[in-house]
Amino acid sequence: MEQTQARSVVVIGGGPGGYVAAIRAAQLGAQVTLIEKEHLGGTCLNVGCIPTKALLHAAEFARSAQEAAECGVQLKMEGVDWAKVLAFKDGTVKKLVGGVSSLMRGNQITVITGEAHFIKTKTLEIAMSDGSKQIMEADRIIIATGSVPAMPPIPGMAESKFVIDSTGALSLEKLPKSMAIIGGGVIGVEMACAFHAMGCEITVVEALDRLASVMDGEMTKQLASSLEKQGIRILLSHKVEKIEDKRDGAVLHLSHGEETLTVKAAKVLCAVGRKPYTDTLTPEAGGITRERNRIVVDEYLQTGVPGVYAIGDCVGQIMLAHTASAMGETAAENAMGAQIAYRPACVPSGIYSFPELAGVGETEEQLKERGVAYHVGRFPLAANGRSLIANGGEGLVKVLIGDELDEVLGLHILGPHATELIAEGAAAIRLESTADEVIDTIHAHPTVTEAIREAVLAAQGRAIHIPNRKKR
Ligand code: NAI
Repeated sequence: MEQTQARSVVVIGGGPGGYVAAIRAAQLGAQVTLIEKEHLGGTCLNVGCIPTKALLHAAEFARSAQEAAECGVQLKMEGVDWAKVLAFKDGTVKKLVGGVSSLMRGNQITVITGEAHFIKTKTLEIAMSDGSKQIMEADRIIIATGSVPAMPPIPGMAESKFVIDSTGALSLEKLPKSMAIIGGGVIGVEMACAFHAMGCEITVVEALDRLASVMDGEMTKQLASSLEKQGIRILLSHKVEKIEDKRDGAVLHLSHGEETLTVKAAKVLCAVGRKPYTDTLTPEAGGITRERNRIVVDEYLQTGVPGVYAIGDCVGQIMLAHTASAMGETAAENAMGAQIAYRPACVPSGIYSFPELAGVGETEEQLKERGVAYHVGRFPLAANGRSLIANGGEGLVKVLIGDELDEVLGLHILGPHATELIAEGAAAIRLESTADEVIDTIHAHPTVTEAIREAVLAAQGRAIHIPNRKKR
């Protein structure tokens, strides 16, 4: 897009939404100022996606020590040096945060360390890190203030010395012997896998009747049984009534229908979701509307105030780093004069569990609810050579195909590298691929991706490496 005159754009928040918006606006010729109260990279880089994956990477070594024996390699697991695990995680975070800083410099983006809040329309007051205050007026503002962990009003939770959130779990002084995790969503499952692999006894308490309820139900059921097989205790449809501190840990009082039970743990991780972080921003002073903490935006990501946009977790739609970044690019384009609606064709999501679970497009539950006619193709990974080698063939690929146009509507993968492989489904859905187009694409052998093609073949009743139940 051609710019005749440099516009100034202020971005509030330096997470994957804000810093990406800042870079895109700078690429389009804007003079960009980014205000960040803590660290560039936001939750994702500092206390979210990246440090958890570093922890999970370390945990994988603990697991492979056990698995190697089955392949004839004798490794001895001598224990976990928790301080070193944390140092590895911190080192990874530091490198990536440093990378974002240099991207800011490379794009001539001014970074201010301070917390901004609106005092009137398009006017911000910034509480600077040195204690001073600065007033800033801006014609274009992109709000990307993110989210914080939500804490449910469970009696005893606020007072407990043993309850931590995901940020706390990433900086525990020592590895606890046991941990109860409240919430079997994405964070709960990932933390359960990481800490369990390192020797911590885990109980996951989930209020609903299944884990990760946004994912396809059949897949999460398989995930739950796989976690249970590893020794993670999963209590579905359990309600935490109260938390009681003891000398060396907390006791969770649970109810399950008429039944009651208790679980004791050295630490209690609360992972029941996140809520938009918008209170300190006082958006109403800037004329901006919120609904239950969420900043209200239109399809162009613009708030009710022309020129003021909001993106990412603070908008409270799909709270994922990659959707925040996608929204950031769209908002930056719009701030620079474009009129682009944010309507992603599909959003892949992944849980970095052991085994990984990833999905894109619709789940079976969503298709049923919408009344869409579809057929299913399934391919168990036990019949896929690469998976058999990687994890004993644990997992499943499931594809959902529309009856009317024979197009791919959803892809769900439980198995090795699922979070990487799901990109094929995202591309297929974005390109409106039909089942035949996936089938006509040669998939390399031996790879887990072959199972995607086989699942689509199975949907047509012509899978090669498993018996077909029905002919289509
Ligand atoms: P979540 O929304 O994924 O899961 C929260 C779970 O807690 C739900 O299953 C819910 O039913 C349950 N729950 C709520 N109240 C409860 C209670 N009182 N007792 C027992 N269970 C209760 O939220 P989570 O896991 O905290 O993650 C927060 C956000 O971070 C999500 O939006 C997630 O998508 C994002 N995230 C994404 C990751 C990824 O993409 N791999 C990794 C980690 C987080």
